[in-house]
Amino acid sequence: MDRISIIGGNPLKGTIRISGAKNAALPLMTASLLTDQPLTLTNLPELHDIETLAQVLEHMGVSLTHVPSSHEIILKADDIHDKEAPYDLVRKMRASILVLGPLVARTGYARVSLPGGCAIGTRPIDFHIKGLEQMGAEIELEAGYVTARAPKGLKGADITFPLVSVTGTENLMMAAVLAKGVTRLINAAQEPEVTDLAHCLIKMGAKITGLDSTTLIIEGVDSLKAATHSILPDRIETGTYIMAAGITGGSLLLTHTDPTLIPTVLPVLMQAGIKITTTKDTIHAEHTGRLGPVDITTEPYPGYATDLQAQIMALMTIADGASIIRETIFENRFMHVPELNRMGADIQVKGNTALVRGKKFLKGAPVMATDLRASVSLVLAGLAAQGETVVSRVYHLDRGYEKVEHKLRACGAQIERIQGEASDDRTYAS
Ligand code: UD1
Repeated sequence: MDRISIIGGNPLKGTIRISGAKNAALPLMTASLLTDQPLTLTNLPELHDIETLAQVLEHMGVSLTHVPSSHEIILKADDIHDKEAPYDLVRKMRASILVLGPLVARTGYARVSLPGGCAIGTRPIDFHIKGLEQMGAEIELEAGYVTARAPKGLKGADITFPLVSVTGTENLMMAAVLAKGVTRLINAAQEPEVTDLAHCLIKMGAKITGLDSTTLIIEGVDSLKAATHSILPDRIETGTYIMAAGITGGSLLLTHTDPTLIPTVLPVLMQAGIKITTTKDTIHAEHTGRLGPVDITTEPYPGYATDLQAQIMALMTIADGASIIRETIFENRFMHVPELNRMGADIQVKGNTALVRGKKFLKGAPVMATDLRASVSLVLAGLAAQGETVVSRVYHLDRGYEKVEHKLRACGAQIERIQGEASDDRTYAS
């Protein structure tokens, strides 16, 4: 397995182009199952998760025109010959569950391997299942698979989410666009990736109102048509690189992004002392001296994103003072803590709260990535630490950060990938 070696201490300076959002690209790709017409997606990030989902869709019979470096994919689901997403592919990426809603809505049948637990928590899919049942699907759980049957099609329903669920909202929204009648998704996720999916579905002919609110109203239609959609910028990658400027005392210009996508994150980073200036599609982040402490709680959008929790914690390990970080979305999302502590950080966890006492500096160490966002927090820490940090299990990073070491190296980071032997001894988390 590959590792990444970082010699810390270089302030990053330069320009980074932000990629399309992974978490928008995945549901958008599965939306192709809703029609026999082609769906063209541009600004597609070049990531392992995208390749995994492409394999799932190809397995089902979706034809793909896709050269990863072109950042474009054309998907055509005019011959779905296998309505099953098998374990071997689903275990690599929980988001494969996003085929369930569109597949049963379009074909009346779907069989998807249950994603199982993952590193950051139990992560059930009961909201997806209950929602589809309310829409008239018959659900069977057996042998590690969920099977959904709706031979006469789905019907509209009022569905209330007990907790805000991003992929839950996306799955049921896609199911509802082809259901008979009106579906109301109440306590729906408002994440920008959900709205991006809705915009694309509307281009395909879906009738959806209530965008950017907690109630989505979907009036089912008989069929959808071809569309072309440009995937929105990755707000998590954006926030991560702002923090890379902050933690190294550098100056980075981020392009092809959108500052309005991180309304709660920007004020937190400014409070920490990072100087941020924005235009419509760029963010300039600059920092000198010590960072200040913060007090944050992760929340559904527009609150502070759980996917940026590990990164802010890395920053706060060298802030001037003590920070409080509360994780309210996932029960086990502090696995970066022992790794950061190995680098000299002083972090104590009690329940869902981490107390981070800032130190003057971190020291490089061998550390292990445990999930996607945890792994990038270790890279951030390594960029700031004295000496060498070697991050192992970087396949987590490759799932969600396009060309991370190239982007950082171009801005002055001393970062190298050490090629390892191929192995399938991997654990996966989203
Ligand atoms: C998505 C994101 C992930 C992000 C997360 C929270 C994608 C591909 N992934 O994950 O990067 O960290 O949102 O912003 O978009 N829950 C249930 N039952 C369900 C569904 C969810 O109890 O059926 C719980 C989860 O365990 C969790 C909470 O609801 O505690 C939110 O999870 P959810 O928003 O569904 O996360 P994902 O959509 O899997």
